[in-house]
Amino acid sequence: MSEQGGSSVFDDSIATFLGPVKPFLDDDSVSEVMINGPQEIFVERRGLIERTDAKFRDEQALVAAVRNIAQFVGRTIDEDHPVLDARLPNGSRVCAVLPPCSRKGTTISIRKFSKGNPSFVDLINRGSITKDAARFLDVCIFLAKNTIISGGTGSGKTTLLNVLGSRIPNNQRVLIIEDSSELKIQTDHVVFFETKHGDEEGNGAVTIRDLIKAALRLRPDRIVVGEVRGAEALDLISAMNTGHGGSMGTAHANTPYDALVRLETLAMMGDSNVPPAAIRRQIAAAIHVVVQIKRLGDGSRKVTHISEVIPEVDEFGRYQIRDLFRFIQRGRTPEGKIVGEFIPVGNLPTFMNEIETNRLPFTRAQFAAPEWYAKMKDADKKAA
Ligand SMILES: Nc1ncnc2c1ncn2[C@@H]1O[C@H](COP(=O)(O)OP(=O)(O)OP(=O)(O)O)[C@@H](O)[C@H]1O
Ligand SMILES: [Mg+2]
Repeated sequence: MSEQGGSSVFDDSIATFLGPVKPFLDDDSVSEVMINGPQEIFVERRGLIERTDAKFRDEQALVAAVRNIAQFVGRTIDEDHPVLDARLPNGSRVCAVLPPCSRKGTTISIRKFSKGNPSFVDLINRGSITKDAARFLDVCIFLAKNTIISGGTGSGKTTLLNVLGSRIPNNQRVLIIEDSSELKIQTDHVVFFETKHGDEEGNGAVTIRDLIKAALRLRPDRIVVGEVRGAEALDLISAMNTGHGGSMGTAHANTPYDALVRLETLAMMGDSNVPPAAIRRQIAAAIHVVVQIKRLGDGSRKVTHISEVIPEVDEFGRYQIRDLFRFIQRGRTPEGKIVGEFIPVGNLPTFMNEIETNRLPFTRAQFAAPEWYAKMKDADKKAA
């Protein structure tokens, strides 16, 4: 991690290969650069995608740039390995696909390393979450609730995990496991693990599963998995169920319910001998809270749900999700900005007593829905 966040926004030698897009790499308002063949370059600015006039000379120039990047990070990209997914020393993430897999010409996407370590205050200032909801998440972290951050691609999951992870009490040992190191969680006692690619035949590869198993022998208080996208879901769920409370991870899903279904599907890849009903029961017991984040149509990223998972499945074997906070859209400005509020919807968490017994500063009243929401629900009911 030490080489991340150096003084240059993008490593100079790589920026040289990527000459035509260098101005965007140096521009702090640009978060992502997307190159779709030599003639078509888009950037993301403040959550919105815009086309630029920049161009590469030709396909050869672009391929040369990708080859140089691959060489720089000690990886191969060629006809036999046409996909490169790599993290640069400065923390930026690069994904490239060569033709013929990529039909328009070499495609590259660069997710720029975001400077600094965002905090709850930054998320509150950006309108991504409210102060009350942030306080509630703090309560959940203090009480060691197992939490999944769910969201689509680029919705802000990793950023939110960084913020939540940094709130873990300093007296706890945190083991972080990632495919390629991205998290910057800074507490007093944190250990970072990263997976390792194997050789051409896959020999010597170290997977997230391997690292979770190793982590369990290293006396962790909490395990944080950057992104759960494979069979490791089963290992993480087992860890959560066996005394590593307050563990966290992110998953690709569009609703809190779907996040649990996604974990279930992934867990079944891990061990097909465990009956689905048993996996479902384990997931319901393991995950306490799901935080859903979304990139909305106006480019803003917002937490849209904080939901509790009831520890038992219902009589039909379905997960029971109780929304505690939700983002409710109430309109749009003439400029197209989405107007809405992130509010408590009137449900108490099942662990309200635990909050009170531990004298945590979060009251029952803070879960009460605003009056307008109750009226809106009533009107919806009548209309139905
Ligand atoms: N709350 C936010 N407000 C504005 N921008 C944000 C917010 N959270 C994240 N971003 C920006 O959005 C981009 C994607 O963020 P991040 O990497 O956290 O998303 P992700 O969901 O983890 O993406 P992926 O699915 O690719 O792993 C980054 O450029 C980041 O700086
Ligand atoms: Mg991510």
